[in-house]
Amino acid sequence: MSAQLTVSGLRKQFGGLVALDHIDLTVDRGELVGLIGPNGSGKTTLLNIVGGYYAPSAGSVYFEGQRIDGVAPSRLARLGIGRSFQVTKVFRRLSVLENMQVSALTDWKVSRNQARDLALEALDSLNLSRLAQERAGRLSGGQAKLLEFGRIMMLKPKLVLLDEPFGGVHPELKRFMYDTIRAWNARGVTIILISHDMGSIFGLCRRVITLSYGEIIADGDPETVRNHPAVLEAYLGDHHAA
Ligand SMILES: Nc1ncnc2c1ncn2[C@@H]1O[C@H](COP(=O)(O)OP(=O)(O)OP(=O)(O)O)[C@@H](O)[C@H]1O
Ligand SMILES: [Mg+2]
Repeated sequence: MSAQLTVSGLRKQFGGLVALDHIDLTVDRGELVGLIGPNGSGKTTLLNIVGGYYAPSAGSVYFEGQRIDGVAPSRLARLGIGRSFQVTKVFRRLSVLENMQVSALTDWKVSRNQARDLALEALDSLNLSRLAQERAGRLSGGQAKLLEFGRIMMLKPKLVLLDEPFGGVHPELKRFMYDTIRAWNARGVTIILISHDMGSIFGLCRRVITLSYGEIIADGDPETVRNHPAVLEAYLGDHHAA
């Protein structure tokens, strides 16, 4: 079986700064992969390329046999690639329900009524029903992160890219997010999770990829990565790491 996601020879430069280089990796359908590394090591940039927000400077990305580097995020959403942001992005002036409906309508086959039904069902599963009519801009940070989860659910995703979903989230809500991530994954959804929260990464992921200065320095099971000399060195040299 071929991999669901294949990244080859990826390089990303911002002017003179090489943010990513020599990135080769494959992810199989149904994997739950952690992506760690010190601040500025290129984690978000990698997700931005897989998610279609940046085109790479070199290299390619294939998703289910289709070349997707440089393809717009809206088209990737229709292919089943969903994404949350390090800095939460919701439509602040729309209600929670409307935010969900906008996502559901990404699928052309979904009618307005169906979108509403799907949205209400998902809000219920996220314990957000009581906030359905609230403006998204009034949600707490953690609730807004949950809304992002909800918007991803509306896409019926095959691959979910999560960038620091637990930042500033209340522990109780965090556990609920773990359950949601595990439930997606149990249904065969592939997940790539960036987090500085090592407890979350090592608790959730069976595979952990480590970036340092834009290159992969370790890729393997949590135990191996945790004890990998290059990983320890990368973090010891980083004074900002959590
Ligand atoms: N749009 C951009 N323009 C210029 N430089 C950028 C841009 N995006 C990222 N960079 C730079 O690329 C490098 C990698 O950044 P990236 O955001 O991918 O790191 P990160 O691993 O996600 O860090 P953090 O853990 O702090 O979120 C950094 O040096 C960053 O300053
Ligand atoms: Mg980042």
